[in-house]
Amino acid sequence: MKVLITGATGKLGCELCKDFSAEGDVAGLARGNRETKLCRASEILAADITDRDRVIRIVRDFKPGIVINSAAIADVDFCELNPEQAFAVNAEGAKNVADAATAAGALLIHISTDYVFDGEKGSAYTEEDRPNPVSVYGDSKLAAEDYIRSSSGRYIIIRSSWMFGGCGKNFVDFVVDAAKRGEKIKAVYEKSGSPTYTVDLAKAIFDLAKKLEEEKAPSGIYNVTNAGVCSRYEFAKEILDLCKLKAEVIAITAKEAGGPAARPKLSALDNTRIGKALGYKLRHYREACKDYLK
Ligand SMILES: NC(=O)c1ccc[n+]([C@@H]2O[C@H](COP(=O)([O-])OP(=O)(O)OC[C@H]3O[C@@H](n4cnc5c(N)ncnc54)[C@H](OP(=O)(O)O)[C@@H]3O)[C@@H](O)[C@H]2O)c1
Repeated sequence: MKVLITGATGKLGCELCKDFSAEGDVAGLARGNRETKLCRASEILAADITDRDRVIRIVRDFKPGIVINSAAIADVDFCELNPEQAFAVNAEGAKNVADAATAAGALLIHISTDYVFDGEKGSAYTEEDRPNPVSVYGDSKLAAEDYIRSSSGRYIIIRSSWMFGGCGKNFVDFVVDAAKRGEKIKAVYEKSGSPTYTVDLAKAIFDLAKKLEEEKAPSGIYNVTNAGVCSRYEFAKEILDLCKLKAEVIAITAKEAGGPAARPKLSALDNTRIGKALGYKLRHYREACKDYLK
């Protein structure tokens, strides 16, 4: 399996590079401005995904069977304040990667988000539910999905949520670090989702890619998250319990948190389709977090 993975220095991308490297020839694509030593790709190719000609040339020359687009600006508040940049990378950049994959005859696996939904459904979203983003980040990710779905290439869109693990800092690290410094932790209680361990997510994507390639399965969307739903407030308390640290956790509203971007109230994703495709369910986020904290 020859695979090209964008966002190779990111939380998910570096785990994807590890998993896919175990069975194939993997090139990670990175901008070259961040440490790449944790990325286990056999080679790192330098490119910004907004540079269309370069992306198309790199994919054509590497000749992958699969292209995974994990690159994005995933900072929701940054996107809200910088919409042009958000669309340039998350929508236009994704189009460049998708077109490059189509031109090379490769399967595209594109990573998307629960934030394409408004969170008002009141229960977990299936792949058929109609997106309605409430932020620039969500809009830009949905624009990429819409383009990919209307293009002629074979694709899998993976929607996931609230990632921890891999390269770079995440909410779990933030809670642990704050507790070790003896600080109080403020966390929003009125928005809920499914924390997802990038190790589990990368493995599920790897298993799915292998299976769908063997079966030459048609294009489609798959929700992939760890099981369980919580608020950041509940998750912060669970993280402290798991690592036996003591700190005061203060429940705050989203308004009190003060970020510029709106977030969905309940963005849990229904994992029935991925469970059927893989023949197994992803474990509860608490179990996954326990492993991450070891
Ligand atoms: N984090 C979450 O909670 C979450 C939830 C749902 C879905 N997602 C989606 O999952 C995917 C992976 O997210 P993540 O958390 O792993 O993100 P991350 O840790 O912030 O990493 C983002 C990656 O994208 C790369 N990148 C950003 N702009 C780029 C550009 N213009 N050209 C090339 N590469 C660029 C970054 O490279 P540099 O090292 O050069 O910055 C980095 O490798 C994204 O598509 C995101 O939208 C994330």
